[in-house]
Amino acid sequence: FRVDMDASAADKGTYPFYMLKEVDEQPVVMRKIVQEYLNEDGVPVIDQDLLETMKKADRLYIIGAGTSYHAGLVGARMFERLTKVPTQVFISSEFAYEQPIMSERPFFIFLTQSGETADSREVLVNIKKQGWPSLTITNVPKSTLSREASYTLLLHAGPEIAVASTKAYTAQVAVQAVLAKAFGMARNQQEAVDFDLKQQLGIVAVGMQAIVDSKDQLESIASRYLATPRNAFYIGRGIDWSVALESALKLKEISYVQAEGFASGELKHGTIALIESKTPVIGIITQDRTAGLTRSNLQEVVSRGASVLTIVSKHLAQADDTIVLPDVDPLLTPLLSVVPAQLLAYYTSLGKGLDVDKPRNLAKSVTVQ
Ligand code: AGP
Repeated sequence: FRVDMDASAADKGTYPFYMLKEVDEQPVVMRKIVQEYLNEDGVPVIDQDLLETMKKADRLYIIGAGTSYHAGLVGARMFERLTKVPTQVFISSEFAYEQPIMSERPFFIFLTQSGETADSREVLVNIKKQGWPSLTITNVPKSTLSREASYTLLLHAGPEIAVASTKAYTAQVAVQAVLAKAFGMARNQQEAVDFDLKQQLGIVAVGMQAIVDSKDQLESIASRYLATPRNAFYIGRGIDWSVALESALKLKEISYVQAEGFASGELKHGTIALIESKTPVIGIITQDRTAGLTRSNLQEVVSRGASVLTIVSKHLAQADDTIVLPDVDPLLTPLLSVVPAQLLAYYTSLGKGLDVDKPRNLAKSVTVQ
């Protein structure tokens, strides 16, 4: 079957804000990515020339800003697990002015929804001068970073209008998963061959739909816990920490709650001093190895009076968990765990009567350094 996104994709329709429409579109975007990038047998359809170039690399460098940087943090875990090639992620504005000591044969992956972010472009201009190959993963065909990189992969997410990035983040994670599988297979990695991405993205699409269908529950959680506090924390370990960073960014940029994403083991090394009675702390728990540890970190904040909420994969869920996510491959849990966080941010902003799509001081694409 085909999923088409035409000009009406940029129309708000009956939605009060673009952000809500774009959150709702995520299951369709997942199916679109399957359609564009995986053949009938689930084998990635990726430019062979790109894979040959990547095979020469001894290290991957992922570059991005804001939400795109956060998507890169998830992507790096996928590349390392499925390809066994060391992968580092950098905030573009940091890399641009303090290039680290490089490996001998780097390959650069630029993540940018708009393809126009000045900080990321600065890095691309610099690394091109040094003769290094690059790929831009973007939502906008013919955008500046797409034209200037050696290769491009499109997100196929359809226009993203709201300043707060949602479907572009999940599309960036999914397209990186495709590329990690393709590159891993090109390197004869059994784990990449065995990774049934097509099936898993199908599970993700259904799971996302279930989450976006539970809007009422998320709206009431937002009004109960996030409407009044000045600050809030998302915590998690490993890949859940990467999602905690993105979840906190969503909350702060549209609801103006000062939110931080923390590695849950780090809390007790200082930040726990900020926890007061009723401070919201949202734990993200999707990984078997770290679930128990994050739960004990949540206990530590409960005993200091925090209001604890949880976003938990079904097989790890307990009776008093707040939001239970459908199960999916552990590498793809960010595609589900981020969705309730997007909606919590949305309803917090809406409840405060703010302009969800156009938060103060922000532009959709940041074209100055
Ligand atoms: C996300 O909600 C933000 N609007 C922002 O962090 C954004 O992701 C960043 O400016 C990077 O933009 P890009 O993906 O278009 O390069």
